[in-house]
Amino acid sequence: MLKGKKILLGISGSIAAYKSILLVRMLVKAGAEVRVVMTPSAKDFVSPLTLSTLSRHPVLVDLFDEAAWANHVMLGRWADLMLIAPLSCNTLGKMANGLCDNLLLAVYLSATCPVWVAPAMDEDMWHHPTTKKNLLALEGYGNRVLPVGKGELASGLVGDGRMAEPEDILDNIEQFFSSSQEFAGKKVLITAGPTYEPLDPVRFIGNHSSGKMGIALALEMANRGAAVELVLGPGVQHLAHPGINVTRVKTAEEMYDAAVSRFKDSNVAIMAAAVADYTPVTVAEEKIKKQEEGLVIALKKTRDILKSLGELKQPGQLLVGFALETNNEEANAIEKLQKKNADMIVLNSLNDQGAGFGIDTNKVTIFDRSGNSNAYPVKSKSAVARDIVDAILNLNHA
Ligand code: CTP
Repeated sequence: MLKGKKILLGISGSIAAYKSILLVRMLVKAGAEVRVVMTPSAKDFVSPLTLSTLSRHPVLVDLFDEAAWANHVMLGRWADLMLIAPLSCNTLGKMANGLCDNLLLAVYLSATCPVWVAPAMDEDMWHHPTTKKNLLALEGYGNRVLPVGKGELASGLVGDGRMAEPEDILDNIEQFFSSSQEFAGKKVLITAGPTYEPLDPVRFIGNHSSGKMGIALALEMANRGAAVELVLGPGVQHLAHPGINVTRVKTAEEMYDAAVSRFKDSNVAIMAAAVADYTPVTVAEEKIKKQEEGLVIALKKTRDILKSLGELKQPGQLLVGFALETNNEEANAIEKLQKKNADMIVLNSLNDQGAGFGIDTNKVTIFDRSGNSNAYPVKSKSAVARDIVDAILNLNHA
């Protein structure tokens, strides 16, 4: 039930706008107070009169309508949740780049509440690299992207790009409000991304980690009320979220120092970084010149951050690690759980389709200290982050 919850629904120009009519009805029926903001082109798809009748409030469209303009900041502050459904390609591109040529965009840019989007577009537009880049940008700003469905599209083609169904959106909103702030007052430490171990001023030893899983976890925790300390490796897109304090590091040693110094104050620590296990014994001051046929580089072990935190762990602190495996996955993951004194290990196998570096999906199995294990299907990294955070909650209450 959504009694007393204030939902601001933004509608942009897409055929899927017809679904918003149903959505408004369902939200109002569930007890929510709904206000609607439309882009001018959305009016070509649904009538403001229908929406104002169903929401029982005037629908706002014009940027230069004096009352609406004065209200645009207040609306973003009034709402408990802003949902843009459908999100067209055009509005997505503008949101990703901070453009502000209509009221919906002005409200979006002023919103202080969580913002969700439900994209709707034809399959080819959905798969265009710009769309992917813009959606990642929104996720980086802390917005939640609801997954699109597969099926018949307005073009007559069948494929990905359908706006999420109103029933599913409502389920997600109800779930969000019933569980949204479970981590309020909690501090969560997260490591993410690769480390770069320098060989000389130009070269380093690194790995393919994109940091996406750790960033998804940071956003999920922050959206559920946690104060997040994110220790983020190099080469990873920066993110700005009021609930996330980002510390940038390069090497395994810098990551170790940043994580250990922040652990004492943390209720939960999640080690999602792909930390180098070895680093060069010496770093050449000048660029290493080409010499003989081969080159041997002496390496020394880095310190294991997860293992060190496992040794420092106090009662009441919960420690989560990852295990990336290519063989003997389960046995190796359980061994890591025990050896590093973690409470939970998230296993991802490079053998699984849809799991691994640089992609937007993952497939995980979660093992916990009580001997439970749970295997999940392939999901987006933000959905996997939700599963991991739910599992942490369950373990905390166990
Ligand atoms: N980890 C860490 N510090 C390191 C190495 C790993 O904190 N120096 C953490 C990772 O963040 C991850 C977990 O340990 O949470 C497991 O990492 P993984 O690379 O799978 O395992 P390793 O312990 O490095 O063992 P191996 O490479 O032999 O599989």
